[in-house]
Amino acid sequence: MESLDLSLRPRRNRSTHYRREMLSETSISAHQLILPLFIAENANEKTEIKTMPGVYRNTVKTMLAEIEQALSLGVHSFALFPAINESNKDQQATESINDNGFLPKTIKEIKKQFPDAILITDLALDPYSSDGHDGFVENGKILNDKTVFRLGEMAVLHAQCGADIVAPSDMMDGRVGHIRKSLDEKGFTEISILSYTAKYASSFYGPFRDALDSAPKAGDKKTYQMDYRNKTEAIREAQLDISEGADIIMVKPALSYLDIIQSVKKESVVPVAAYNVSGEYAMIKAAAAAGMVNETAAMVETLYSIKRAGADVILTYFAKDMAKWLRDQR
Ligand code: PBG
Repeated sequence: MESLDLSLRPRRNRSTHYRREMLSETSISAHQLILPLFIAENANEKTEIKTMPGVYRNTVKTMLAEIEQALSLGVHSFALFPAINESNKDQQATESINDNGFLPKTIKEIKKQFPDAILITDLALDPYSSDGHDGFVENGKILNDKTVFRLGEMAVLHAQCGADIVAPSDMMDGRVGHIRKSLDEKGFTEISILSYTAKYASSFYGPFRDALDSAPKAGDKKTYQMDYRNKTEAIREAQLDISEGADIIMVKPALSYLDIIQSVKKESVVPVAAYNVSGEYAMIKAAAAAGMVNETAAMVETLYSIKRAGADVILTYFAKDMAKWLRDQR
């Protein structure tokens, strides 16, 4: 057989399974995955979220079972999202600082059973606000500073209940600094801040808002969440959050934003997280159900691509499935 006069043959490095394994540049550990969990105040039993097959609105009891299962697979971190009863929502989002409310009770319950689990709580008003916005609304405008003061109070409440990490997801200006100060004043110097730093106004949050019934009643979130045409702004947000004391910064969503993850990672002196959001999960599930892609292969490829882009940790609804896959590789 005739051959080319070719000394450089990149295919040599791809020629066998173990050579590919040896030379792979990206790895994922279950410890780097964070599982988001939905818990519903009015749930008597767990119900599947229609737009997110395999993801449930949990009762406290079924959530504890999910956590136990995740822990056994090596997933130790959980982001909690409460679905609050409509009757407990108002314009002042009063329920967000009710120390006897659904989320505070839930945090305590989890910590009692699983003291080593890392609990991450969301700081934003949307689950508690009858307006469905992340901040207070007045005459159609989102109030920055008033919202930030509330987020500081929420952070302290969550810390008192046992949260390990608070995660402002609201995109108000100056919130990281104020939350840090609020926590420190109360002695919660060991509570970390995972900031939703570059959170874009995205259509990919649709299934999440179904899950929590938290869609805005009027308008959209474009005066606070970022414009997807912009990248420089993400660097600015990252610099601000880091200077205000964020321990981890996050890019969200992940898949249409891999370039943002890469750029933010390059600039960041703190770990970078990426949120593989509900719509991204739903797309893979829908395509797999229609027989268009192989679900496991698409999940694995997606999560490696987010890691390769520069994410140190990934929030994903696939956390348990991915952990199972990782376990079975050995
Ligand atoms: C609320 C919040 C949202 C998500 C996480 N926290 C929705 C939104 O901003 O409208 C989205 C997560 C997902 O889609 O998986 N502040």
